[in-house]
Amino acid sequence: MKRSISGTGHLVNRRRFLEGGVLVAGIASVSPGLWSTDVFAADRDRDRDDDDHGITRGDIAILRFLAAAEIIETDLWQQYAELAGEDAPESGYRSAIEVLDEDMPQYISDNTDDEISHGAFINAFLKSKGAEPVDLDQFRTLQGSRATGAQQVGRLTNLFRLTVDTSWWTRYRSTQNPDFGATFPQAIPSLAAGQHPAIPKNDAESGTPGNISNHIQAVANTAGFHFAFIEQGGTSLYPALAQRVTNIEVLRVLLSIGPTESMHFQTWHDKAGNAPAVKDGSLVFPDLGGGQFATNELFEKSLIMPEPCTFLRKSFPPCSIVRPTATAGAAMKAAAALAADGLFIGQSKEFFEALRDLAADADNARRKKS
Ligand SMILES: [Fe+2]
Ligand SMILES: [Fe+2]
Repeated sequence: MKRSISGTGHLVNRRRFLEGGVLVAGIASVSPGLWSTDVFAADRDRDRDDDDHGITRGDIAILRFLAAAEIIETDLWQQYAELAGEDAPESGYRSAIEVLDEDMPQYISDNTDDEISHGAFINAFLKSKGAEPVDLDQFRTLQGSRATGAQQVGRLTNLFRLTVDTSWWTRYRSTQNPDFGATFPQAIPSLAAGQHPAIPKNDAESGTPGNISNHIQAVANTAGFHFAFIEQGGTSLYPALAQRVTNIEVLRVLLSIGPTESMHFQTWHDKAGNAPAVKDGSLVFPDLGGGQFATNELFEKSLIMPEPCTFLRKSFPPCSIVRPTATAGAAMKAAAALAADGLFIGQSKEFFEALRDLAADADNARRKKS
């Protein structure tokens, strides 16, 4: 049986203190009023009143951009899930992904399911408010993988030519905040330059189960860092846009989905640290257990919790937070980051225009004061 860290003696002493102290009496006398259903009923009424202020055009624009972002996320996660998720066939690629953690296929499938649910929920919510849901089906035109397991359907995103920004690694280990203009070094500089595949094009590139070439391990490592890149983006996007939402129920949607992006990010942040050292042409994954990854706090592998950093004002004490969360231009910055990642290489002019329009509308949203 798991023993209490504090020890039994401590618990007994604490109970004795509570029994004899005024604290118990205080709780007993205050509780009935504090927890009365009337109080909750009043809260509910107030929430309903706030909802009655109605959803604004800005709220709709924010939700529509988020729906687009979720549909894009879903598209890329589905490609990963088909080749390395729970139901993916055994292959060299899947074996290489499992080097990062044997539970990776489960996590990949679950992250995919979450994105599907986010997109479907936001679109259903939009419809319930009489707003137009987002549909990007006409842009599913890109060729995906031909490896066994991959559906032969048009894709929205391109996972073959990624330039993965890996500065989230050092950003979350730093005491500096990007909202104050701070910039951060890349964890894997060669992955943040050039263009690299994160999935194999075909079975020959993937290889056979357990037979992991340097190339396919580098592809899997690229995916591992890309997972965290994508989810840190969502982690920042939701709080950034929530600041301009007016309707309480819409705010609840953003505040409830956003933290699941952070849960994904935290998992992928941890797993990326397991990427083995490997070299594939110009792409170099160093030993993440040695060198500066063992000695420099800006890189140290185990430091995956958000280091407290400057927040709001430099005069305040450092705070452990999601960053960036600045709201100005947040949607356009997110769209630009996805484009810079290489996800949309090969997409049509119309696709970029549609995404830019959705982002511009979201960034024009302003919180209405009652
Ligand atoms: Fe999502
Ligand atoms: Fe996500």
